Amino acid sequence: QDERAQVKERIKRLLIEKNAVLVAHYYTDPEIQALAEETGGCVADSLEMARFGKQHPAETLIVAGVKFMGETSKVLTPEKTVVMPTLEATCSLDLGCPIKEFSAFCDEHPDHTVVVYANTSTAVKARADWIVTSSCALEIVEHLDEQGKKILWGPDRHLGNYIQRETGADMLMWQGACIVHDEFKTKALIDMKALHPDAAILVHPESPLDIVELADAVGSTSQLIKAAQEMPNQKFIVATDRGIFYKMQQLCPEKEFFEAPTAGEGATCKSCAHCPWMAMNGLKEIENALLDPTGKEIFVDMELRKGALKSLNRMLDFSA
Ligand code: 13P
Ligand code: SF4
Repeated sequence: QDERAQVKERIKRLLIEKNAVLVAHYYTDPEIQALAEETGGCVADSLEMARFGKQHPAETLIVAGVKFMGETSKVLTPEKTVVMPTLEATCSLDLGCPIKEFSAFCDEHPDHTVVVYANTSTAVKARADWIVTSSCALEIVEHLDEQGKKILWGPDRHLGNYIQRETGADMLMWQGACIVHDEFKTKALIDMKALHPDAAILVHPESPLDIVELADAVGSTSQLIKAAQEMPNQKFIVATDRGIFYKMQQLCPEKEFFEAPTAGEGATCKSCAHCPWMAMNGLKEIENALLDPTGKEIFVDMELRKGALKSLNRMLDFSA
């Protein structure tokens, strides 16, 4: 315990010395989220992380999350040094959407507007007309649908299916998925709800559609936290990464939160409601990144940056 407290103190000093700020996602370890808040950084969803990093005056951003979040920050603020606790922290959606194949898919459908989720590489973002996060995807697709656009959507098929159900938009889907949200089990969730009939079900839209259909509220991490605060229920069953419980519990100490079930009896799951890549962010890794950023710094190709910036700014302006 003492050792952890010492590491935190050293990180606090290093953040000041290096003119750096810690930007953390809601799925990171509660200790990291608390440290980000304590040191004037932020804990946020992926859209707010991008905004925060862009407007903060620090020269260095320490992005505790997964690689696409660091890349987004670098695209938005190339003049800043963007460092991650580890560059190995990736995302199954990013991995499942290689630029060559995705670009070929886009080329086959030139009459479609390409809308991609932020959980992608800079190259995929550069190929897109629009970028969205879970916070603004619905509104952006609605807007494009109203203009009569046909949409090529990637990479998360579950989020795409949810948006298509809500908007009725004409959408062609890339078949990616998040390994964490893919694990939630419908039957087990119905059984859990029967045990807690007064609990509201909160679902991140990266979950399969049959899980989304059981939800009382669907939204990005920050929208789910808001729902937990605003809904009158005292109990919540939450279908997203368990890292989110730290903030929910902090804001609603009198309420009770349960993890949505990830596996039926006797079954196994790969990720069990916690993203293995988010879990790579540790205090020690943050300290090391501040001491020596070699091999942990994000660089993006300047040509790709130009393309990605255009579609990222479109999203930021739309959702301002
Ligand atoms: P949010 O934009 O809701 O924070 O989601 C990012 C993410 O990777 C969820 O798995
Ligand atoms: Fe990617 Fe899923 Fe992890 Fe989010 S939780 S970073 S979508 S693998």
